[in-house]
Amino acid sequence: MRRIIAAVTGASGSIYAVKLIEALMQADIEIHLVFSDTAKKVMLYETKESLPDLAERLDKRIKSDNLPGRIIHHENSNMFSSIASGSFRTEGMIIIPCTMACAGRIASCSGSALIERTADVCLKEKRPLVLAVRETPLNLVHLKNLTSLCEAGAVIYPAMPSFYSKPETIGELAENFSSRILEPFGILTKNYKEWSENE
Ligand SMILES: Cc1cc2nc3c(=O)[nH]c(=O)nc-3n(C[C@H](O)[C@H](O)[C@H](O)COP(=O)(O)O)c2cc1C
Repeated sequence: MRRIIAAVTGASGSIYAVKLIEALMQADIEIHLVFSDTAKKVMLYETKESLPDLAERLDKRIKSDNLPGRIIHHENSNMFSSIASGSFRTEGMIIIPCTMACAGRIASCSGSALIERTADVCLKEKRPLVLAVRETPLNLVHLKNLTSLCEAGAVIYPAMPSFYSKPETIGELAENFSSRILEPFGILTKNYKEWSENE
């Protein structure tokens, strides 16, 4: 089974993470999911759903709809987790949304939690690391950190949804962005829309 790590940090835009996990569940993917402490609070604030409630809802849907995906939860404080080691083979990692604090910790190699360690593993093992960063405006420290991360091989995917797909709801907007971010992993979800000059 293909393994992809999805990490969620405490930036605005928790809905992107929810839509990304829902999209991954449709594919034959083992999703390794890890939330920072702030991400749990921001998700509850923005979506009114707690992490335990989200986990239960997704688990029920996997079973009721007989979806091929599988979710494995990791604690951000657990450095003994499988994904902390490069010997545990994965196809890479997406941090969505990614805070500037988290980007800074990865860029400076100063993080002491599982999310930063796992991102560091992806960079050292030359596995895709996609960062859906979210902040505005960006200061020079943010820009320098993002440049360092890009130079180290990360793909910077700013959480900037497009409007040419003409989304009618916030859910659709987030789904379009989350489906676009999976394209580098060769996963084309039902929401992925390829542009054509006939549009
Ligand atoms: C409601 C809310 C929204 C936030 N949005 C952002 C954001 O969009 N980008 C960002 O870099 N930080 C944002 N923050 C600040 C981060 O949560 C904060 O820097 C935190 O320490 C990040 O921790 P983490 O990287 O471990 O998740 C937000 C905080 C709150 C409470």
